[in-house]
Amino acid sequence: MKSIPSPGPFGVEFYDMDVNQMSDVELDGIATAQNNDGVVFFRDQNLDCEQHIAFAKRWGKIVANRFFERVEEYPQIAVVRKEPKHRTVVGETWHTDHSYDAEPARGSILYAREVPSTGGDTLFANMYMAYDALSRGLKHTLRHLSAVHSSAHVFSAEAVRTNEHNDDRFHSGEQAIQRSIHPVVIKHPISGRKALYVNPDFTTHFDGWTEQESRPLLEYLYQYSTQDQFVTRFSWSPGTIAFWDNRAVMHKAINDYPTERRLMHRITLAGCALQGA
Ligand code: SIN
Repeated sequence: MKSIPSPGPFGVEFYDMDVNQMSDVELDGIATAQNNDGVVFFRDQNLDCEQHIAFAKRWGKIVANRFFERVEEYPQIAVVRKEPKHRTVVGETWHTDHSYDAEPARGSILYAREVPSTGGDTLFANMYMAYDALSRGLKHTLRHLSAVHSSAHVFSAEAVRTNEHNDDRFHSGEQAIQRSIHPVVIKHPISGRKALYVNPDFTTHFDGWTEQESRPLLEYLYQYSTQDQFVTRFSWSPGTIAFWDNRAVMHKAINDYPTERRLMHRITLAGCALQGA
């Protein structure tokens, strides 16, 4: 298997490889790379929807997103789309997919179908590296905290409408009722490494603290964990897959192609309840 490190502090790009033909040995190699780096990429893939689903199932059970529009006839695949008429892009704030769930999604497999001529990159922040570099004192404080994560303020019908008038990319706003509490420092269920687990989109406050009390420390953690030394910027080409582990990285889509279209298909993999470190 051929691979190169991504430009940036982490991430591995595999090339000269067809994920439709991935052997068990290759799967093990990719799993190891993802365990170490949090995100892996595959260039020049040619997948129809069935093949995208088949690739995802090699890694585990699929959990469909409740709010995104879905590919017709393939409800397991969420559509991540921006048309020239849209002001916003899906996922343009730093976030961790499905952190509002009691068992947040393990990973996400995003496949680029159409990309703009320039721009439309995705940023990834490595939450292992961010945790490791914290001071001993702050690590100690954070390890005793849990945080509340919610879907309501992002995906309720009202929130979607406020974000973008007449947004046709989301549905089921009435189902935006999930609220879960997770440790602020998790022990990754596979690698065993410690990672920060809070994100600006879905984390509302520390458990037992008010939102107002929580905001300064949460803001500090977001600003701290998204510094350049922890962030990899990925530039897409059509046919590329990014496969990230939501327990190891946050991500954010860049909104810098106002007049162009970008179309991605995303499958999320089921996860498990998260344990504190
Ligand atoms: C997402 O937030 O899952 C989408 C990221 C992207 O479109 O780059």
